[in-house]
Order: sequence, then C-alpha cells, then structure tokens
Amino acid sequence: MLGHDAVVIVSTNSEQKRNSDVTYPFRPDSNFWYLTGFIEPDAIAVFSKDSYVMFLRPKDETKEIWNGIRLGAELAPEILLVNQAYDIDTFFDHIDSFTKKGSAIYYDAPGGSGWKDHSSTNIHNKRIHSLFESRLKPLNPFVSEMRLIKDKEEIKNMQDAADLASEAHINAMKESIPGLFEHNIASVFDSHFRNGNSEHSYPPIVASGENACILHYTENNKELKNGDLLLIDAGCEINGYASDITRTFPINGKFNDAQREIYDLVLSAQKSAIQSIRPGVSSNKPHETACQIITDGLIKLGIMKSPEDLTKFYMHNTGHWLGLDVHDVGSKLVNGEFREFKSGMVTTVEPGIYIRRDDKIDPKYWGIGVRIEDDVLVTDKGNHVLSQKAAKEINEIEQLMSRQ
Ligand code: GLY
Ligand code: MN
Ligand code: MN
Repeated sequence: MLGHDAVVIVSTNSEQKRNSDVTYPFRPDSNFWYLTGFIEPDAIAVFSKDSYVMFLRPKDETKEIWNGIRLGAELAPEILLVNQAYDIDTFFDHIDSFTKKGSAIYYDAPGGSGWKDHSSTNIHNKRIHSLFESRLKPLNPFVSEMRLIKDKEEIKNMQDAADLASEAHINAMKESIPGLFEHNIASVFDSHFRNGNSEHSYPPIVASGENACILHYTENNKELKNGDLLLIDAGCEINGYASDITRTFPINGKFNDAQREIYDLVLSAQKSAIQSIRPGVSSNKPHETACQIITDGLIKLGIMKSPEDLTKFYMHNTGHWLGLDVHDVGSKLVNGEFREFKSGMVTTVEPGIYIRRDDKIDPKYWGIGVRIEDDVLVTDKGNHVLSQKAAKEINEIEQLMSRQ
C-alpha cells in the first residue's frame, strides 16, 4: 500500500506517572500492539519492504529485579520474529541506515489524535518529528483500514471479552438490592474482570436513578434507591480487544409502568437497529432506524411534540466501531458518504432515552435514563451479537432478579 521505498515507524508509549513514584498500569499503544504484539513500554518498530527492526529497552539487572523482566535485544529476533533488534537509546544512531534518502516515512505518534500530535508520551517522538518533519506522512489511515476488519483471532478475543462482560452484567443484576451503593455493584465488575485475567476497557458507568441522565457519569458512589433504575455501561479487554456493554434494570427487580414504557421503546429501537446490519448496508442505517422509532415512540407517549426535540432525550450516536480501542479507529465517512458495512467489522448498537426533570413532562418519567448497548459483528450473511449472553428482555431480567 505504501510504495517500494517507504518506511514505517511506529512507537509505543512510555509509562505514565500517577503520583510520586507510582505509575499507572501500562497499556500499549493500539497500533503498535496490532502491528507487533509487543507489550513493553518504550519501544519503536521500523518496517520497510524487506526488514522489521525493533528498538526496545535494554536488559538491566537492577531494573528487572525491581520492576520486572525485559525482553531485550538478544532474544527479540526469536520471540518477536524481527530481523534485528537494538537498544531504544541507539534509535537515532541507526535510523538513517533503514531509510533511503528522501523516501517517505509513515509515522504516527501514539495516542490516536493524529500524526501531528506532539503530546505523545514516547520519549523519542518529539525528536522523530523534528528530524524527519518534511518526509513524514500519516500512517493512521492505512492501519485504521486494516484494524476495521477483524480476522478470526481478533473475533475470538472480542467474543471472549463480550462473554466475560456479559457474565458480569448478569451477576450485577443478581446482586442489586435497594440500600447497596453504586460502588458495591461496580465491584462486581472489578472482581469478575480480574478473575478472568482481564481489565476494564474504559471507566465503568454505574448510574442509579437520575444519574443515568449524565452520559459519562463515573462517580459511582450513590445509594441504590428502591424504585429507581440502574444503568451500567461496563466492558473489559481480552488481549487488548474491548467489549462495551450497557444494561439498564430496576434496582428492586421489577420495572414500574413508566420505566417499562421507556425500556420497551429503547429495546425495540435497539433490536430494529441491529436487524438492519448486514454487508452492503450504510453504517448510518442503525442510527436512522433507532432515531425514527424513538421519535415516533416519544411523540406517542406525549413526552415529545415534534421530531426536532429528539436530541433533548437522545443526544448521542447509535454506535461506534469497536476493537483494540473502545471507540475504535476507522472513519465513518468515505468520500463524504457513510461507509457500508462489511463482513468482519464490529460496531456497538446503543440507543438510549434520558429524561431529566422538566415541568412540561409528566413527573412519572422524571429521572428515567435507559440505554441498551450490544457489540455486533458483521458476518457474510448478516450479523452476530457478541454480547447476546447479557439478558435484555424485560421478562428475562425480572426472572433473573426474582427473589423468592
Ligand atoms: N462506554 C462508552 C460508549 O458506550 O461509547
Ligand atoms: Mn459504546
Ligand atoms: Mn458503552
């Protein structure tokens, strides 16, 4: 794709300080992980048509005793299948020998905010920018296209991530009772993910009552009140691949009439949106489908007067690509048009309705926030819901939560 003389430089992050001498848990840059499978911090891979070179942290007895084993340059050819490997600190001594004079260099700073992003945390990024500035071309568009279509192994990781998170959502439904706190339910996910040798793929949202109307609520520390709903948006990562699942259920195990009306509407929008997904269909079709059903339903319930009011109650999109990043790479538009679905893409489908206090709306609906989110793989014939193990039918949820 890049031409004969092109060189690709792709770097991963450095560890980030949290406070004092404590660092955040390290998570590799997604493009670097995708292209190399190497999960140590402070590394740079250089690819050309016929060579693959890795620059990585040197072996260091003291640092390895304190902080863990490093692969090192000697073992890298055998383990990573690179042609050559060097100490990362010699990157600028070697890089000229891998690039032909004047040839294009495809490069992206990690962080995903584009190739001109100088804020990257890799110690060498600034210098790569200043050294090659006029020869640099963005790598992201090429890798994004590759990452958009998942192969068998990637799909297996995503299915495992969806299964683990679906189990945690079921456990949360079973554990919820009035009087507990949102953080008690958040701990159900922490525990289940850790037991599965996994991590959260993003900060979980455990939002009871009207907290569900705050889209990115992450305080997760309020008391669970009898009669309220609980909205949980939580997913995990397996070998870097994310799940992203939302379920909404009544804290006491039984939907009241107003909650049931709103839930039914979101569920029917979500199911129709999922049904619209198959190869060749516009990737905006699920959003159009969900918006139409929610608009008609909210007008029928007297909550909304005209279609223009929709964004007051449904203000986000119906889905995004999912993969190594929870909001995965891959543009929505190609030449100004919505991209068509292709087999191997994975998208979320996540319509919602959020009703804040408003004198113009019947108070029985105040504070109701419902979102239902599944992870959907596009297949040759249609689609497969990876997160189908997480119950979402009202009778299934009430059955799971019934306490004799
Ligand atoms: N959890 C983030 C999202 O649903 O997009
Ligand atoms: Mn999502
Ligand atoms: Mn989500």
